[in-house]
Amino acid sequence: MMNIVLLGPPGAGKGTQAARLQAQRGMIQLSTGDMLREAVAAGTPVGLKAKEVMARGELVSDAIVSALIGERLDAAADKGAIFDGFPRTKHQAEALEILLGERGRTLDHVIELVVDEDELVKRITGRFTCARCGAGYHDTFRPTKVPNTCDACGSTEFKRRPDDNEETVRTRMAEYRAKTEPILPYYNAKGLVRSVDGMAAVDDVAAQIDAILDGSA
Ligand code: AP5
Ligand code: MG
Repeated sequence: MMNIVLLGPPGAGKGTQAARLQAQRGMIQLSTGDMLREAVAAGTPVGLKAKEVMARGELVSDAIVSALIGERLDAAADKGAIFDGFPRTKHQAEALEILLGERGRTLDHVIELVVDEDELVKRITGRFTCARCGAGYHDTFRPTKVPNTCDACGSTEFKRRPDDNEETVRTRMAEYRAKTEPILPYYNAKGLVRSVDGMAAVDDVAAQIDAILDGSA
């Protein structure tokens, strides 16, 4: 089973592509951002610790996110995992290697979504999701087919993330450049990095990723 990391700055399309891979290939999306948002919504001890840090756009501690991934990894054992938003620091990359190694598993690809920062602010500030099923949309790039009605489940309730404002996005970008980008050389040295053009249309990015997973690119 293939295990892949989707790496890229906020708004690069990690969640969009991970959800598609899960739907089309039966792989399991492991998004630390989604796990943390669930913890915040449920008011768990992890959620209480993470809430303000996330609202500021800073990174939650390596120990917390590595533990979250460790708890979910076995569920993805025979389907393959898509790591979405993890690892985000060198320390997390090392933690992932240990977690996989303990289970006799390895990483197959680190797929870097290469994008332009100004575009990302537009993507993030226009983003919304279905409050019932979580399907992701964008005001201009990916509107619902019928206004205010979820394509997937028909719900008319939608939500926006509290960290999706321009100021917080700038902090999230700075965190990415300072702490996450430096893991690229680590994975490059292992020969795992494959870069795709994240500025292309959603279906086009999907095709680039499929070609890598199918070994035809
Ligand atoms: P997280 O939830 O991971 O947020 P992020 O990395 O900032 O990334 P996003 O979810 O904003 O973007 P995405 O790449 O998933 O893009 P999407 O597909 O939605 O993390 C949130 C916070 O949690 C962090 O700031 C941190 O505090 C904490 N955290 C999480 N993981 C952590 C970790 N490992 N360590 C420490 N802290 C952690 O797309 C964006 C929009 O663009 C959508 O509207 C979509 O429809 C649209 N779109 C997507 N692709 C395209 C395309 N090709 N063309 C046009 N529009 C597109
Ligand atoms: Mg995401």
